Amino acid sequence: MAVFGAPAALEDHALRGCLAALGIQEEVTRLAAEVDRRDGVDLRLRVGLNSGQVIAGEVGSAALGYTAIGEQVGMAQRMESVAPPGAVMLSDSTARLVEGAAVLGEPQLVRVKGAEDAIPARLLPSVAARRTGVSYSTLVGREWELSTLAAMLDRSTSGRGSVVAVVGPPGIGKTRLAAEAVQLAKSLGVEVFSTFCESHATDVPFHVVARLLRATGQLTGMDDESARAQVRAQVPDADPQDLVLLDDLPGIADPDVQLPKIDPDARRRRLTALINSAQLARTEPAVFVVEDAHWIDKVSESMLAALLAVIPQTPSLVLITYRPEYHGALAHGAGAQTIALAPLSDSETSTLLTELLGPIRPLARSPGSSPGARPGTPFSPRRSSVSSQNAPCWSVSAAATPAVPMWPTSACRRRCRRPSPRASTGSAEPPNIRLPPRRSSVLASPPICWPAWRSIRLSTS
Ligand SMILES: Nc1ncnc2c1ncn2[C@@H]1O[C@H](COP(=O)(O)OP(=O)(O)OP(=O)(O)O)[C@@H](O)[C@H]1O
Ligand SMILES: [Mg+2]
Repeated sequence: MAVFGAPAALEDHALRGCLAALGIQEEVTRLAAEVDRRDGVDLRLRVGLNSGQVIAGEVGSAALGYTAIGEQVGMAQRMESVAPPGAVMLSDSTARLVEGAAVLGEPQLVRVKGAEDAIPARLLPSVAARRTGVSYSTLVGREWELSTLAAMLDRSTSGRGSVVAVVGPPGIGKTRLAAEAVQLAKSLGVEVFSTFCESHATDVPFHVVARLLRATGQLTGMDDESARAQVRAQVPDADPQDLVLLDDLPGIADPDVQLPKIDPDARRRRLTALINSAQLARTEPAVFVVEDAHWIDKVSESMLAALLAVIPQTPSLVLITYRPEYHGALAHGAGAQTIALAPLSDSETSTLLTELLGPIRPLARSPGSSPGARPGTPFSPRRSSVSSQNAPCWSVSAAATPAVPMWPTSACRRRCRRPSPRASTGSAEPPNIRLPPRRSSVLASPPICWPAWRSIRLSTS
């Protein structure tokens, strides 16, 4: 069993769980060929994932070990039991957390042990190369921001390229605003190339720039040979050795051609020069979107920073989104404009809520509400409204009420016999659970923000 989202809460824990599950299947496919050859055994694995509240920590009466227990752990095993051999099955709760980032199979009803009725589940064939399928409500407010972006787009397409950063805390609407700008550009016939940074790929050199290259070269879905031909058509005058380096970046290199032996810094410089000159040669207007730059890898950051320097000489607009904690090179481009998103006003928030829920009473605000429930942050009402339909532990009022999880199930009581040192102090922790002082427990995290764990169960078929 693997647990994601505990002890450290991660906002993309569900996606990480999916990536791990797919990675395991990939490895096993490789191993299976060897096992088949050597032992004549058809080795295939099933993987199941589920998401929900659990009790996590070092629990147990014998040797303590970090683990997660509770009803939801069992559901991950149930998902594994209904997955076809070689596949990954997600429960409905996990599927909802990764839709937009993963390619999901059609919803299906499955029968699992212990449940009277069939329950929904979805297969996970792969993780999407681009973010997909997020449904948006009508944009509320942001008129000034949108008209600023429209003006910058206009200026850029007329030949005076510009760079704009949309900055704000999680859920404030950076992606939403960027999506509006993209729509606007497309409606004007301007080409748009988007990429995004991911928290789990911050240490992967070239990750973001490689993805941007795939987007700008329109290489997705092409075989490697055609992709190489396409790259050569786009930069016809490039040095052949540089082209070999460039092929390697989006993973389309010819396996029979050796990479030039140069140090990583020289490689970065040569690629930067090549990409910049390709950009300078561009005559058609374009919009480049780089989302979530707070997670960018260092090499991509330095290459993109160099690219930003030539943008004013091109008919392009570069739109970067990031959270306020980011202070890297992309936040300091000379001549770059910054749009800092403020929270929506009360009336805008209530307009958004009314659209999502129908007429409602205004939310009471509580100083003790969860950190995800910032007043004016559209994420909070959206999450609340979604969850009020689908998840019993979230409701509109949850944004204003301290989240109090259900205390231990009987299974937990059986397994956690040791009295808590804090049980007699009137602490809010459950009796009989020992929570080590420096380790966080999932129960301690507000379920409205980071519903908390992923479990992968493995078994051979
Ligand atoms: N002005 C708005 N009108 C309507 N819906 C909005 C608005 N701003 C944000 N939303 C909605 O709120 C949710 C969160 O917004 P969004 O994903 O854009 O946040 P973000 O700032 O990009 O957060 P993160 O830093 O986590 O990427 C989305 O569902 C989005 O459609
Ligand atoms: Mg975003």
